[in-house]
Amino acid sequence: MSQIVKLFGDNEKTALRRLKEGAGKADILAETGAVLGLDNVSFSVNEGEILVVMGLSGSGKSTMLRCLNRLVEPTAGSIRIGGTEVTELSTKALREFRRETFGMVFQHFALFPNRTIAENVEYGLEVQGVDRKTRRERALEAVELVGLKGWDAKFPRQLSGGMQQRAGLARALCADADILLMDEAFSALDPLIRRDMQNELRSLQQKLRKTIVFVSHDLDEAIHLGGRIVLMKDGAIAQSGTAEEILLDPQGDYVRRFVENIDVSSVVTLGRLVRPQPRLFQGAAAEEAWPLVEPAQSRADEVFVVTCDRDMPVGRIDRGRLSAPGSRGQRLDKLMDGGIARAPAGAVLKSVLPLLASEPHGLAVVDETGRFVGLLTREVALRALAGKQPNEERNTAWNGSSTTTAASASSLWTNTPAAPSIGSPSISRH
Ligand SMILES: Nc1ncnc2c1ncn2[C@@H]1O[C@H](COP(=O)(O)OP(=O)(O)OP(=O)(O)O)[C@@H](O)[C@H]1O
Ligand SMILES: [Mg+2]
Repeated sequence: MSQIVKLFGDNEKTALRRLKEGAGKADILAETGAVLGLDNVSFSVNEGEILVVMGLSGSGKSTMLRCLNRLVEPTAGSIRIGGTEVTELSTKALREFRRETFGMVFQHFALFPNRTIAENVEYGLEVQGVDRKTRRERALEAVELVGLKGWDAKFPRQLSGGMQQRAGLARALCADADILLMDEAFSALDPLIRRDMQNELRSLQQKLRKTIVFVSHDLDEAIHLGGRIVLMKDGAIAQSGTAEEILLDPQGDYVRRFVENIDVSSVVTLGRLVRPQPRLFQGAAAEEAWPLVEPAQSRADEVFVVTCDRDMPVGRIDRGRLSAPGSRGQRLDKLMDGGIARAPAGAVLKSVLPLLASEPHGLAVVDETGRFVGLLTREVALRALAGKQPNEERNTAWNGSSTTTAASASSLWTNTPAAPSIGSPSISRH
């Protein structure tokens, strides 16, 4: 979707001109009576991804969703889906395209009260003229997929709200459309049922690889669904990105207000918080590590020791110990200050807080193969908990690839080939 403008009202042309001249929503409304629904909105959705559109009431979420299939006709801009320029389709071609491409699920389930669940679910196929037997088979498959097996002959009124919403989802899935448009689909459900539905949508999406655009006003729901998030404000995009990106770096007061009540530690993963650290093989001699902690050359005051074969962190040595008399010629693994606690980069901060509390030197964060990614310090963890950026120094800090000041020091960074997998990562102590 690129540069989409939607103005509601009779005076669209004048209003569009005023918008291009830089007029805001309030001015346009006062001067022309037109309501600015979308203000130059551009974004893309990848095939097979969940994109959550968020924002306060009236921010333009539904309008944006409905512009995608032209249930709301954009005033200006272009919408490309696959190879199709949707804004250029004729009425007839559009009808066909909609049917093939989109399934829709709404907040209020919009089931036909006098049709059974199976009849509701197969409705789309019926309209397409699919024969009775085939469409019933497909409907029963979809009913089963959403966990309503055995309820197909019941009427909507015999089902709870959550079950009716499952039926709505089955109806959208039944036509096997590529893209699901879901507008506040779970907002009418009780919190626990709602969470169940979010979980199920996630697993269905992983199984069926549908592209889903999901409108919600609830950031917690957006985070739980796991996809990228587009945050709307007054018809424009206030910020877009992953939940982690938005939580760690909310831009502007509007976004900050959304983020305020979210528990950052249950979303942010260690991989986003780590700082790269100088490391050396365990068999190296102490003097090889000296340049890495030399104050004039490096801001590090400790060196991490990794295994030769897998780059796995096994310990740390601080500057004092490295430069102590008699260290010359000593192997690094003989100088280590005990072991080091490890934690996987994919773990959320919350899950390692107890471990971090008992590790004053921080945690060695490893990737899925066990390789050392960097250090999670208490300071960085606390900053994240306080809603601050991991570290302002990040861009200028030492870093394995380029910014180490001394050439001699950078040549000492370990560089081992990818190691074999060590299975599912877990917190471990060497
Ligand atoms: N058919 C319409 N005619 C006139 N104005 C409209 C129409 N539909 C939407 N609007 C206006 O466009 C703006 C965006 O509305 P939209 O329904 O997209 O918001 P929303 O983010 O979905 O809100 P909610 O969370 O309440 O559903 C609002 O200012 C609304 O008044
Ligand atoms: Mg809406």
